[in-house]
Amino acid sequence: MAGYEAGFRDLTAEVRDRDLPVEGTVPAWLDGSLYRNGPARWTVGDAEADHWFDGLAHLTTFRFDDGAVRYTNRFPRTEAYRAAVEDGSFAGQFSSTDGYLSRVKSLLDGDATDNANVHVARIGGELVALTETPNWLRIDPETLESKGTLDYADELTAHHVTAHLRRDPESGAHWGYFTKFGRRNVYVLFRIPEGTTRRERVGSVRVEKPAYMHSFALTPEHAVLVEPPLVTRPAKFLLPGAGGFIDNYDWEPDRGTRFLIFRRDSGELVRETTVPAFFTFHTANAFERERDGTTELVVDLVAYDDDSAVTDLSMGALRGGNSGFPSGELRRYRLPLDGEEATHEQLADEVEMPRFSPEVHTREYEHAFAQSTEMDGGNALVRVDVSEEGSERGIARRWEEPGVYSGEPIFVPHPDGGAEADGVVLSLCLDAEAERSLLVVLDGDLTELARAPLPHAVPFGFHGEYFPDG
Ligand SMILES: [Fe+2]
Repeated sequence: MAGYEAGFRDLTAEVRDRDLPVEGTVPAWLDGSLYRNGPARWTVGDAEADHWFDGLAHLTTFRFDDGAVRYTNRFPRTEAYRAAVEDGSFAGQFSSTDGYLSRVKSLLDGDATDNANVHVARIGGELVALTETPNWLRIDPETLESKGTLDYADELTAHHVTAHLRRDPESGAHWGYFTKFGRRNVYVLFRIPEGTTRRERVGSVRVEKPAYMHSFALTPEHAVLVEPPLVTRPAKFLLPGAGGFIDNYDWEPDRGTRFLIFRRDSGELVRETTVPAFFTFHTANAFERERDGTTELVVDLVAYDDDSAVTDLSMGALRGGNSGFPSGELRRYRLPLDGEEATHEQLADEVEMPRFSPEVHTREYEHAFAQSTEMDGGNALVRVDVSEEGSERGIARRWEEPGVYSGEPIFVPHPDGGAEADGVVLSLCLDAEAERSLLVVLDGDLTELARAPLPHAVPFGFHGEYFPDG
């Protein structure tokens, strides 16, 4: 059986408004568009990107209309795309051996790569492709072509930015954080009010050695940065002969992993607490509640023992079949605000790409959806029941098919739904044997409702969002 290497093979084909054949029934209420982002090309001529995360940005969209599915895919013609295709260069990215000049340029001169291949959001009324530099792309929602980088209506200088914004369900503002390197290194928490492209500085904290952080958590009153001990001394960026962005980071487990808890209204850092070291890319949901007379924050996230989840993802290893997907543990951390010790428990093992219904964001919730990496020769999708009220916690539902590698499960709530699981899960999966992708539509119990085969194989991607019409 063809293995997951098929998910790291270059894609070059682009199609526009292709009606996909649908097997099964896509619910007629699903009336909107799924957008997904991810790297999809690592080789141009003799030039090859070193790291999975450095492949050229590739966007897909699936438009749902009365049970039909229409597909478009596009490599936005960015500066990074032009440099790869015309100059054979994958410089200045996440991990690159291109060295000194591109690195200093990318991180300190504000001239970072525009290869926005991580996520999507709607900011200031526009579809935007996100990456971990400030060079986010405005995207035409029909053609998926780049309309250039996003202009921020502010004067903030950011170097390393999260691509995992969190949308506040009350105000519609997007929240995020960035790291600014310099003589003083700071983490800055910001919000972008709905309808604007203005990053408003909410709070900040100085750090000696900034960490590589990928996502964070939002609750109604607080924002939580999760700082693993994968840290850098920014002066190292200036040393000749050092590698790409992530190559400048060292794993220092003795530091532990630190939670930095900010009040959202004042921006004040109200608590920090350090726990035994773990690495994480992705938080799931978070919320807060009163327990024993104190406020307790609950943060669910996917944890790894060390930083190998980052370092094992070189293209050489992945294409050679020598390495697997990163596979972490979904954990629930409880962070009391009164100074009591943080505790955690395992909710599920061997999962990644946790998602949940947008309707329960920042609230106590029942279901997380994730990719499961425990099966050989495929990836399943699982529903993890996380409610502390329920009798059955852990992996409660599963969808899998031999030879099929599922992608991030994106939950779309039914517009008139009652129960939290009333909705559908959309996942772009790779049928490794057939060497083509499938868009799979499941219900909230992970029963398959429909599938739509694509005309080609889309390599494994990262993240996406569904936006209802209107
Ligand atoms: Fe991510």
